[in-house]
Amino acid sequence: MTTKPIPESHIGVFDSGLGGLTVLTSLEKILPNESFIYFGDTAHVPYGNKSADTVIHYSRNIMNFFLRHNTKAVVIACNTASAVACKELRNSFDIPLFDVVAPSAVHANNISKTRKIGVIGTHSTIFSKAYTRSLADIKSDCSTIEISCPLFVPLIEEGWSDTPVAKEIACSYLKPFQKTEIDTLILGCTHYPIMGKTIQEAMKSHVQLVYSGETVGRKLAAHLKKNNCTNDSGILGETRFYVTDFPQKFDELGSRFIGRKIKEKKIIYFSR
Ligand code: DGL
Repeated sequence: MTTKPIPESHIGVFDSGLGGLTVLTSLEKILPNESFIYFGDTAHVPYGNKSADTVIHYSRNIMNFFLRHNTKAVVIACNTASAVACKELRNSFDIPLFDVVAPSAVHANNISKTRKIGVIGTHSTIFSKAYTRSLADIKSDCSTIEISCPLFVPLIEEGWSDTPVAKEIACSYLKPFQKTEIDTLILGCTHYPIMGKTIQEAMKSHVQLVYSGETVGRKLAAHLKKNNCTNDSGILGETRFYVTDFPQKFDELGSRFIGRKIKEKKIIYFSR
């Protein structure tokens, strides 16, 4: 039996760590009246080089946490978890679940004129071919070229997104795109929006970047409206943060991702 979601309850957003804060920022902008619980699985980060089974196991723990907190919808901000765990989670949990892969694939399909789309992400996301499958699901006539860029995440976390070394690495990873006709590039990893300027400079200037926070945010907003589940209490939403390890580091690096100090209370939740 499906329980009716309560409009005033919060939306869950989860990621392997702090990268999902880029998605949270977009969600807060698009849905200012909603409250959010952000869950960063900092004890198990990174997900991007782990097997699908392991990522599914961690993601299940987080979904159980959200279920216990009466969450009205969950956004899988993490591209890797969206790519490899979403199907299993949908089959197991009776809660509206939003992944970041499908909305970005749909958006890219809508805007590409050359019908050639590039995708960049972690090893596991690219290995899963989730974006290519998602485009096939909507019977897109676009072809894809997918490239993993594993060094981007540590560069971004070090605060080196806009340095000469980041530019050189970006040019090297993205070089294969130069010989193609792609006009749309999906940033298939939570962290990459932070490096958007460097990535854009390494691409031909007409290539449009697709940001998953924006595409999933629009989809979530439409869902809440359609199901009469928007928070219309008139009180501005608030965000709470939970991490599974090292809250100090989350504070420090997270503020850079979210563009404000994370001074709200954090509670450490140890998942096994
Ligand atoms: N959040 C991950 C993603 O979007 C990147 C970091 C990680 O590997 O855990 O794929």
